[in-house]
Amino acid sequence: MKNVKKRVGEYEGYIDLNYKKTKNDLVCEFFVEPAKGITFESAAQRATSESSIGTWTDIGTMTPSLFKKIAPKIFYLNKKTGIYKVAYHKDLFEELNVPQIMSAIAGNLFGMSDVKNIKLMDIDFPDCYMKHYKGPRYGVHGVRKMLGVKDRPLIGTIVKPKVGLNEVQHATVAYESWLGGCDVVKDDENLTSQPFNNFDKRIRETLKLKRRAEKQTGEKKAYLANVTAPYPEMIRRAKEVIKHGGEFAMVDVLTVGWSGVQALLDMDLKLIWHGHRAMHAAFTRDPKHGISMLVVAKLCRLIGIDQLHIGGIVGKMYEGKKEVTMVGEEIEQQIISEDIARHRLQEDWHDLKPMFAVCSGGLDPTKISPLVHAMGRDIIIQAGGGIHGHPGGTYAGAKAMRQALEAEMLGITAKEYAKTHSELALAIKKWKNVKR
Ligand code: 3PG
Ligand code: 3PG
Ligand code: MG
Repeated sequence: MKNVKKRVGEYEGYIDLNYKKTKNDLVCEFFVEPAKGITFESAAQRATSESSIGTWTDIGTMTPSLFKKIAPKIFYLNKKTGIYKVAYHKDLFEELNVPQIMSAIAGNLFGMSDVKNIKLMDIDFPDCYMKHYKGPRYGVHGVRKMLGVKDRPLIGTIVKPKVGLNEVQHATVAYESWLGGCDVVKDDENLTSQPFNNFDKRIRETLKLKRRAEKQTGEKKAYLANVTAPYPEMIRRAKEVIKHGGEFAMVDVLTVGWSGVQALLDMDLKLIWHGHRAMHAAFTRDPKHGISMLVVAKLCRLIGIDQLHIGGIVGKMYEGKKEVTMVGEEIEQQIISEDIARHRLQEDWHDLKPMFAVCSGGLDPTKISPLVHAMGRDIIIQAGGGIHGHPGGTYAGAKAMRQALEAEMLGITAKEYAKTHSELALAIKKWKNVKR
């Protein structure tokens, strides 16, 4: 490390291209575009310094030995691609404190005038962290077991309109969706407890009709009640779900924040947790600045979300197919190999269970086949408009979704299957050529 003696603590001395990462390191991959007049190397070092131990000037309180012990090491720099990788010693962080980890590696550096753009692409967590985080309590297998569905994708819906229905109307839409063939019905991300729809009453009504739908169909069904709220009220709502026999709940992970979600999951309530990522695109969408969806998904798996929205690929949301499939692999596999082109670091998830991928946003029965081809069978496919917008109504819309899935599982095209399944035929007619 050059200049350590001379300038400890300043924005220099962090590059060590011979450094070999150890099992005690938390490694981050960043993309950086320096501000005018700043070199690439300097921008990377300034961001690294700001995210760990340094500041804009040398400081008398920093000693060379301390610097040597805890300064992160930039061990990879590629000026052409703008990528650098940095190894942070685990002791820079409080292991089970996600807010603190994010305050460091995803904190001040985004606002520095030395960088024009900077994006946290991935985090490779040290093995010792993996052993202490619990990960999903149920995950893919637990959810499948709960619903008794072995190997097909799950079909779900979001009650629409997003907000506005009263408790009984909401429960009725859910009921028709289950009867038509949905496995899962969820609240929308912005439905919590509003004047027209009280949380406690809604879950009572909806869970009551869930039980009725289970009896009538002979299938196990899931209702994902959105408990998103300030922390104490969120806990109360989660307990209310359990009290009324619910097994699932959902939380908007980013608007609630890491502290709230960690605390919620650490309560070890007997609930399967569905994570909604509303707000993620504020910082994931720009390819050059912010935090990648991969990072959000990894943090969710680490802290114990069981199923998470990762994108619909062929739907209405702005997202790259490559990124969505990569996030899908990351949350469901145990060993992840490094992929330079897709900005993915290696990871060993040890015993942490796989998290179910949720595909949603602008989907309808015509999108099931391309989605399963891109993402495999371990996905939950959700359609809101693509069910409640069916010409025959919600029940017919849910039937059409299930028929499209049946066709896919039988290896028949939806078009062919529609010849003998009228709901699917109507859905294809309405949505085949609709741009979203
Ligand atoms: C997403 O990509 O996160 C969604 O489109 C929103 O999901 P929802 O269908 O559950 O609201
Ligand atoms: C959303 O909020 O984007 C959704 O809940 C998905 O709804 P959609 O299937 O109608 O796009
Ligand atoms: Mg929604």
